[in-house]
Amino acid sequence: MTGTPQRSHPQPERTFVTIDFAALPDDFLWGTATSAYQIEGAVAEDGRSPSIWDTFSHTPGKIDNGDHGDVACDHYHRTHEDIELMRRLGTNAYRLSVAWPRVVPGGDGPVNAKGLAFYDRLVDDLLAAGITPSVTLYHWDLPQVLQDRGGWPERDTAEHFAAYAAVVAERLGDRVAHWATLNEPLCSAWIGHLEGKMAPGQTDLTAAVRASYHLLLGHGLAMQAIRAAAPDAQVGIVNNLSTIHAATDREEDLAAARRMDGHTNRWWLDPVHGRGFPQDMREVYGVELPERPGDMRLIGAELDWLGLNYYFPQTVAADPTGPAPQVRTVRRAGVPRTGMDWEIDAGGIEELLLRLTEEYGPRKLYVTENGSSFPDLVRPDGSVDDPERQEYLTAHLAACASAARKGAPLAGYFAWSLLDNFEWAYGYDKRFGLVHVDYATQVRTIKGSGHHYADIIGRARGRERKAA
Ligand code: FCB
Repeated sequence: MTGTPQRSHPQPERTFVTIDFAALPDDFLWGTATSAYQIEGAVAEDGRSPSIWDTFSHTPGKIDNGDHGDVACDHYHRTHEDIELMRRLGTNAYRLSVAWPRVVPGGDGPVNAKGLAFYDRLVDDLLAAGITPSVTLYHWDLPQVLQDRGGWPERDTAEHFAAYAAVVAERLGDRVAHWATLNEPLCSAWIGHLEGKMAPGQTDLTAAVRASYHLLLGHGLAMQAIRAAAPDAQVGIVNNLSTIHAATDREEDLAAARRMDGHTNRWWLDPVHGRGFPQDMREVYGVELPERPGDMRLIGAELDWLGLNYYFPQTVAADPTGPAPQVRTVRRAGVPRTGMDWEIDAGGIEELLLRLTEEYGPRKLYVTENGSSFPDLVRPDGSVDDPERQEYLTAHLAACASAARKGAPLAGYFAWSLLDNFEWAYGYDKRFGLVHVDYATQVRTIKGSGHHYADIIGRARGRERKAA
């Protein structure tokens, strides 16, 4: 169990201000990221069926302000405008997700030609704009019909996921090289089935552990399906990981930190690297895994790349009376925070990139999401000032470049997010965009941070040109 938290407290504050561009490869992907349900809207158009997020967001009390994704950023009707924004930011990559309920509205079975055609056009338009698409197949929008049949706690869901993945890869695989199976299965399993704060809103440890297993099985099956359909595909998985530190040096808190590390990081990383599910966590959960012969080989098939979503560090203490994994997070005094109340620590992204490099030896790493929400200031002239987001972006990019300098095989960075969008249980109040969205008019305005990102990318490219 190397790399698990041994020390009690966060490292001395690390500051990152200068981006070491020379540490990044010349073909670095400078991207932005979004996901289908958060931006598309058009939930009942062209044959799309409801997903678990339509159901959850329309359940009273689940989402702040009663918000939902019915219209969101209306991206479904505004792809050209949004691609133009990506171009103006100077990005050369875009991470999008495909909505399963658009493509296979029945969950399994017939393909909806109109749904698939939407992504087909989107990919063509991105390529025409010189932007490399990175496609994520599952960003939490399970077709509700499959939830009605048991959802991720059931094995069939993993098999249906692979069939849907094959459909998408067969259609887009001639133009899309970069594929992710799942986005943050931790959130689907733990937040959706254990904490109940995300769709499908369950609070059942057995369901959560079974969901986690079948999500990763779905990843393995989908990886196989994508590779069969598109032999040149580069396939990875996207995890949201966190640095975990114990609140004190007391043995129970150090043990709590090891459990939290298992719950947050190792449970998701070990199986996809052929190491099986961590034994210590199997004991913590005490739930039998629905394992069948051959599963672990599928789940552990070698990845082409590993995606890291990083937002914040965590400090934890033991909580013997709480549910598994029996930890509570501790609020550190005097630490700067974002509008989500998440601690800001750019050093965490460097630490995680280096840990992944040392412990898992990935062929390539991408930061598939990183970003911050702050209450933005819209000036009378319509411009949007967000100095804190600019600072967050610079610091985290500098920390990424520092990790690359120390040997992390970092191949790209996708800022979360291109646009302000539907931030799940928090609704529309929490804004992560580099581009501001006025939801009443759907007017988009590049924020200060968007101009700042464009400037950073311009400087990186200038360097490359000089070197060429
Ligand atoms: C991640 C999600 C993404 C977005 C950001 C803020 O956990 O993948 O959809 O909500 O958080």
